[in-house]
Amino acid sequence: MGPDTLRLVACGSVDAGKSSLIGRLLFEVGGIEADRLGDLGADPDFSRATDGLLAEREQGITIDVAHRSFRTAQRVYLLADAPGHDRYTRNMVHAASTADLALLVVDATEGVTLQGFRHLFIARLLGVRQFLVAINKMDRVAYDGARFAMLSEQLAIWLTPECRLTVVPTVAPHGGNLRHPAPEMPWYEGPTLLDALAVADVSRAQAALRMPVEWVGRADETRFYGMSLRSGNLKVGDKVLVQPQGGLVQVKRIAVGWEAVNEAFVGQAVSISFNETVDVGRGDLISAVDSPATVSQGVDAFLIWMGDASLVPGRRYRLKLATRTITAVVSEILCCLDPESGRETPADRLGLNEIGLCRLAFENMVACDRYCDNKATGSFILIDPITAETIAAGVIVQAHGTRNIPWQTMGVDRAARIKLTDQRPRVLWFTGLSGAGKSTLADLVERRLHAAGRLTYLLDGDNLRHGLTRDLGFSEADRVENIRRVAEVARMFLDAGLIVLVSLISPYRADRLAARERMVTGDFIEIFVDTPLEVCEERDPKGLYIKARQGKITHFTGISAPYEEPVAPEIHLQTVGRTPDELADRVVSYLNGNLR
Ligand code: ADX
Repeated sequence: MGPDTLRLVACGSVDAGKSSLIGRLLFEVGGIEADRLGDLGADPDFSRATDGLLAEREQGITIDVAHRSFRTAQRVYLLADAPGHDRYTRNMVHAASTADLALLVVDATEGVTLQGFRHLFIARLLGVRQFLVAINKMDRVAYDGARFAMLSEQLAIWLTPECRLTVVPTVAPHGGNLRHPAPEMPWYEGPTLLDALAVADVSRAQAALRMPVEWVGRADETRFYGMSLRSGNLKVGDKVLVQPQGGLVQVKRIAVGWEAVNEAFVGQAVSISFNETVDVGRGDLISAVDSPATVSQGVDAFLIWMGDASLVPGRRYRLKLATRTITAVVSEILCCLDPESGRETPADRLGLNEIGLCRLAFENMVACDRYCDNKATGSFILIDPITAETIAAGVIVQAHGTRNIPWQTMGVDRAARIKLTDQRPRVLWFTGLSGAGKSTLADLVERRLHAAGRLTYLLDGDNLRHGLTRDLGFSEADRVENIRRVAEVARMFLDAGLIVLVSLISPYRADRLAARERMVTGDFIEIFVDTPLEVCEERDPKGLYIKARQGKITHFTGISAPYEEPVAPEIHLQTVGRTPDELADRVVSYLNGNLR
């Protein structure tokens, strides 16, 4: 056994003297300023320090975390130094997800900042239970013991019972209380920073076997599966569970690289074959039989929001948990958390860097754990389906089992109805500004299809708002729900065999994409009714633009709420200078090409 390893994450801003404190600490221990494994000698476990919660490399986003290391006779210290700026919360999250201890540097003159509290809070959310706070620049407050006591008190209030906190008054440039006690502060009787680090707990809880499947290969008729052992251990002959499917299989062979081994350990990348032929693919999870993950259709989780655009309940996001990617909806923000006081406040959106407890619904089953039971399968990221950016990190508090509502298969299905109607069902989704001419056009197109003997139905936004969507307004969240409901109805009518025409402003790209994804590929035809705002406003058929300009209507699309133009609609109708008849012709001829 080599020396043990303590992983720490440094938080706080550069202004608080974080860099100089770290620099001086390295100097004090004659530190190796090394980012290289080789300098660390045997088994430093360095790679795992960088293998954090966010698999961002796969997302094409650079994580800007500086890794440093130093060692004393007893310990190797791996220090992840996340840039302190507000924009870099993701770095902090990444670094904190593998840390044993968080080191916060506070400027004694200004006290703990909101950002300092936020970093502590995030570290706590991510399972860090040991906190070491350096109240730095004590020389600037004349080594005032009372000031130190006050700041320590403020931190202690913030703490929850399971956490351990040590606060040390320091003067980084002189090395005061870093390695040796500072003579200027005889009133301080606690440990120096290095003493506190030396006694920090490095024991890590043993979690049950979890191996997310990364790839499937085949050699000589044998299938083998690539995965990494995120927790637990595995021996040849072990019976394991394939989740979410639920099949039981026995391990026939384990290989690390090309070499067959009898046993594999945490952190190793292995390829495995089983005695049984099973259906296993990327994204599945291999788990311990006696301690399986929860197969869930939803979770309650803390979300650390990193998107520039706010989280809006009802929106669909890609969720990546271990190697599985699915679609998820944040159905509810249960509360927003104030990092400073820990207070929970109600919220209907989450902005950049805000943290909320949210309820998520999954569109597919996912095998997952509570974060406190397993970090690898208890955390996830959310990805914006349009920009492909990582917009949130999630920490699972509770996994909801399946809702026990199976899908009933009926005897008369879409294919049977198509046979009867002899037409290919489609959804014609007209989007555009208010007054762009969507309803007029949809009406015209429907008349022609009807005259040609087609079965149709027109779902018009204005009309639906008298019934189906009567309870909804025009906030972003209400429009998300409006469009979701109409898309659901459209999908049913599609299933019924109709050509469905939908006329909705549907101003957000994400919601139109969500509607599209509810339909079978090729069934959804997006029609952009492109009339410039000035023209719509000039026409103002319902007198709404004038009211919106006068502030009598709020959230008015184009005036006080956005309209995000389609990027690649199936049909793009520039209306200016064309008659409704010409435009309707284009839609009908597009359909005639492939109606059957
Ligand atoms: S959507 O944005 O949710 O798709 P929808 O198409 O259902 O909107 O309803 C838009 C219609 O509601 C407009 O054509 C207009 O007649 C009316 N309306 C009333 N208030 C607003 C508003 N603030 N923004 C846009 N349309 C409004």
